[in-house]
Amino acid sequence: MNADGSHDDRPKNHTGQLLENARRELGLSLEEAARRTGIPAGILGALEKNASHSSGAFHSRVFLRNYADSLGLDGRAFYRRRGTEGWIEEPSSQSTPSQSTASQDAPSQDVPTQDAPPRDVPSPNGQPPIMVEARGVYKSYGAEDFIVHALEDVSLRIEKGSLVAVMGPSGCGKTTLLNVLSGLDEIERGEIFVAGEPLHAMNDARRTGYRARHMGFVFQGFNLMPVLSAVENVELPLLVSGAGLAVARKRALEVLEQVRLADRAHHRPNQLSGGQQQRVAIARALAGEPTIVWADEPTGNLDSDTSREVLDLLLRLNRENGQTFVVVTHDPGVGELMDRIVRMEDGRIVGQAGGPVEVAPGA
Ligand SMILES: Nc1ncnc2c1ncn2[C@@H]1O[C@H](COP(=O)(O)OP(=O)(O)O)[C@@H](O)[C@H]1O
Ligand SMILES: [Mg+2]
Repeated sequence: MNADGSHDDRPKNHTGQLLENARRELGLSLEEAARRTGIPAGILGALEKNASHSSGAFHSRVFLRNYADSLGLDGRAFYRRRGTEGWIEEPSSQSTPSQSTASQDAPSQDVPTQDAPPRDVPSPNGQPPIMVEARGVYKSYGAEDFIVHALEDVSLRIEKGSLVAVMGPSGCGKTTLLNVLSGLDEIERGEIFVAGEPLHAMNDARRTGYRARHMGFVFQGFNLMPVLSAVENVELPLLVSGAGLAVARKRALEVLEQVRLADRAHHRPNQLSGGQQQRVAIARALAGEPTIVWADEPTGNLDSDTSREVLDLLLRLNRENGQTFVVVTHDPGVGELMDRIVRMEDGRIVGQAGGPVEVAPGA
């Protein structure tokens, strides 16, 4: 039975379900969603029941927001796209990503292009270019009487194309480090440059856009959309950045091939093993050809054999694609596979093995 009391024997199409989920997650009635999006409630309802009534480009935006949220990304950069007049707009600076208000913004042209593509930043000593540089970074949580200094005076450099492990005991600040280096979180003090771009100086929206265009993320929990097939999960970020459906599908199949999962393209996550799900998530992270891939304990939910498989895959992709990989891991055996290891304790970097990562001067 449907919400309106009627019966409908047609199975819900994936996209329709996603649309409805996204709307409900936003706590919106059909009427409210219609008011905000400028799409008549009747049409929105029809889209939810049978999304094949819509064109791909048209229906994708609401669930892309849901998708962004499920990835821990801020979906705001996805709203300003060609022809999105009246669509859910960018929340005010006070509101969280899931509280949007009606839009006044005119749609801008295509995907945001406020920043230049990443460029190579030459090392002072003629070594390979620096991809990530942190200088004197501080980050704490909580307030005066109960403050956690998650990062204290952290400085490091990561060279382009390297594969770096971040290791250290639970609670030492590894996730926080990844989140600030990738611009997911703001820092209190210090500077962070990615490919020469000052992340610390960008506002939230700009950082979000930068992330969407240049970074890929892999999480411990995979964060796949359960109602989408492997190939649909992989192509979503491409649709976000404005690719057409055919182009996105072709590229998604290509990346699935790269992670050796072409034969599972039409399986849903619950039809795949943990290792396969993580490979889909890795394919998704790579689909947009990010310059840098961040992985926070990507093998944390996997048994040791599967972990090794996934790590070998990361290693191979790093070699094949020349992308920079930063991988948080507990596994001592894992660090040995990487080019370099950054060791953390109590919010500080306490040791580094190898050349491409070095403590920046003045640290
Ligand atoms: N949102 C938060 N609010 C308060 N404290 C936090 C928050 N996130 C992390 N912390 C604290 O910051 C420290 C570093 O956490 P985290 O970066 O998650 O460590 P790790 O990933 O190495 O386990 C820990 O003491 C943790 O409890
Ligand atoms: Mg962590």
